[in-house]
Amino acid sequence: MDQFVIEGGVPLRGTVQVSGAKNAALPILAATLLADGPCRLEGVPDLRDIRTMLRILEELGVEAGREEDGTITTRVVDPTRVRAPYELVKTMRASICVLGPLLGRRRRAEVSFPGGCVIGPRPVDLHLTGLEALGARIVVEAGYIGAEGADLHGGGELYLGGPFGPTVTGTANVLSAAVLAPGTTIIQCAACEPEIVDLARFLVAMGARIEGIGSPTLVIHGVERLKGTNWKVIPDRIEAGTLACAAAMTGGDVVIEGLDTTAMTAPLTVLERMGVGLERREDGSLRVIGVGRPKPADVVTLPYPGFPTDLQAQFMALLCVADGNSFVTEKIYPERFIHVAELQRLGARIRKEGASAIVTGVPELTGAPVMASDLRASAALVVAGLAARGTTTVERVYHIDRGYERIEEKLRGLGARIERCNPARTEAAAAGS
Ligand code: EPZ
Repeated sequence: MDQFVIEGGVPLRGTVQVSGAKNAALPILAATLLADGPCRLEGVPDLRDIRTMLRILEELGVEAGREEDGTITTRVVDPTRVRAPYELVKTMRASICVLGPLLGRRRRAEVSFPGGCVIGPRPVDLHLTGLEALGARIVVEAGYIGAEGADLHGGGELYLGGPFGPTVTGTANVLSAAVLAPGTTIIQCAACEPEIVDLARFLVAMGARIEGIGSPTLVIHGVERLKGTNWKVIPDRIEAGTLACAAAMTGGDVVIEGLDTTAMTAPLTVLERMGVGLERREDGSLRVIGVGRPKPADVVTLPYPGFPTDLQAQFMALLCVADGNSFVTEKIYPERFIHVAELQRLGARIRKEGASAIVTGVPELTGAPVMASDLRASAALVVAGLAARGTTTVERVYHIDRGYERIEEKLRGLGARIERCNPARTEAAAAGS
């Protein structure tokens, strides 16, 4: 298994380009199942999760591939296939995003029930009740969600709010089924995340009729068919935020290009409160200047436009070296604190209290071997390792490869000393030589 070996303490400097958003690209790729013609998608990052989605689409009778310039093309060749198998779904929860499009276009779906997740319970009950409101009949059997939609119709007014607010992929699923359901569907408490806005706009480009895009009330008038289209996926605000944390934490000076700062008001405001220098430039790029120890800050994760849970771990890494006590509260995934124990291995002082953590900043972290456990927790460990004195080894970087495109190359371009190694391969090569 690959690991990252990081020699920390180098201030990052230079310019870095943000990739397309994984969490927009995944439901958009799934929504290509709805199209009667081919789709061309630009800005889809080359990631493990994207490759998993392409394999699922192939299982579902879609010819999908990446051209030399990185563009992804999709074309439905066998619309009779409706089963997303356990072997693929178990490796990526976002596989559930094919449920709505399959039901909408093929009126039938069999999608393996997504399994457990290290960031806490992640039910899909809201997806299912939302689809039932559109007339779908849902049966869970032998680990699969079976959905049948011969009588799919507009769902009238339906509510997608759960105990922690709206559901992001649940909104994607119900929206993607409703666009081809005759009649009107009004989704109340729809997710407002930029990734859902991108999906909705993509659907409109295919011919869907959707009002209220970006608001918690989506009004969908079902249409008979959707055509293929060309689309450019929005930039990844979580990758941009991760790079900003790395720049700030190493006391660096980094220009992040190709991002959309308007989708990042909450995290950028927190950085400003911490005293991190931010310069929004006319060309749309963002300069991040780290200035000694940051000030402490309170972070509460919330649905968009609140602070994103997907940046909680990376900000916690930064707060570990703040000059004082910070309070981090998770309102989306109360158990998403798996990075705490690993950050402690680097010398962080963190006390967890229920769904919150009190972080007492220390002057510096020190390198140590740590274990990646989920995508964003691993990103936090890389951020911390870049700033820590000495060597940090991050094991199981396949978690990072799920969501960050060429991360070590991008960081090396900023002067970071980070290498990808595979001890087992190195040993085998040594034994063979
Ligand atoms: C999306 O997951 C993202 N994934 C996650 O990013 C992100 O953390 C999350 O939204 C929240 O922003 C993708 O977009 C592919 P939810 P999703 O349904 O849609 C509860 C990453 O690192 N809930 O909005 O699965 C749920 O338990 C990933 O890139 C129900 O109760 O999240 C949670 O507390 C990790 N019932 C809250 O709602 C449901 O049926 C929000 O979850 C569905 C969700």
